[in-house]
Amino acid sequence: MNPTRSAIVTGSSSGIGLAVVQMLREEGYGVTMVARRAEKLSTAEQLVSSVPGPPVHALAGSVAEEGFLDEVVQFHTATFGALDLLMNNAGIASRTPVADITAELLDEHYAVNTRAVLLLTSKSLPLLQAAVAARGTAQVVNTSSNAGKRGEANLGAYSATKAAVLGFTEALHQELSTAGIKATAICPGLVDTPMADDTRDVVSPSEMIAPRDIAEAVRMTTRLSASCTVPEIILLRPTDWILPPDA
Ligand SMILES: NC(=O)c1ccc[n+]([C@@H]2O[C@H](COP(=O)([O-])OP(=O)(O)OC[C@H]3O[C@@H](n4cnc5c(N)ncnc54)[C@H](OP(=O)(O)O)[C@@H]3O)[C@@H](O)[C@H]2O)c1
Repeated sequence: MNPTRSAIVTGSSSGIGLAVVQMLREEGYGVTMVARRAEKLSTAEQLVSSVPGPPVHALAGSVAEEGFLDEVVQFHTATFGALDLLMNNAGIASRTPVADITAELLDEHYAVNTRAVLLLTSKSLPLLQAAVAARGTAQVVNTSSNAGKRGEANLGAYSATKAAVLGFTEALHQELSTAGIKATAICPGLVDTPMADDTRDVVSPSEMIAPRDIAEAVRMTTRLSASCTVPEIILLRPTDWILPPDA
């Protein structure tokens, strides 16, 4: 088996996933980067590879396709033989009032934000177990959202699919933490990534959480001993969760 610790990070062609990949390589992990658009992913892979470090590979495809998830697991198995960290991070968000929610919009959000998280984790179990056998521990990090903790107006489909990610992460913890596989849900408020582009006219990037902040939180989880797990991390902007004075 490859002695290098390794990770799969979905949604790593920009934003949070890209920052996490850069951090993981600093920590010595080889990485399989996964995202939908091949050209964008290739540019991100080149940026990551420009810094010397453990191997990086990129696989482009949609996590909504089950066959692609099998491909990702097969590739990572052949390349690394074990999986120390799976980060289910790919996500989509569409600002849509409840009145305009359609079956198509729901299916799209569910397929990427929820179904892929459960399926890829399930398919990765043998690889995660191989890491536990080799190094005593492995981990799954699922990117939920502040909207998964407290549903947000005009983000009904997104909020619901991100709340489901929290439910799954808790189940994973209950089922597999004693077998050495830790589960962590990350719940950020507004992060300065392409996903936040439609809010830039009301919130400046300097007031948003930085992708690197999320990467630092994930770094902390990678450095803990096998006997310590962090089930959930909430990262807020200072203005979040504060009631206005007239509420
Ligand atoms: N930004 C925020 O304010 C915020 C807050 C809380 C949680 N989050 C969550 O953080 C995660 C990362 O988002 P981000 O903010 O970093 O935004 P981002 O920069 O837009 O990243 C989204 C990533 O997901 C990939 N992706 C989307 N659909 C995919 C699919 N069907 N198959 C494979 N990859 C797919 C994208 O690839 P392509 O570009 O090729 O589609 C991209 O790499 C998401 O789960 C998001 O819900 C974001």
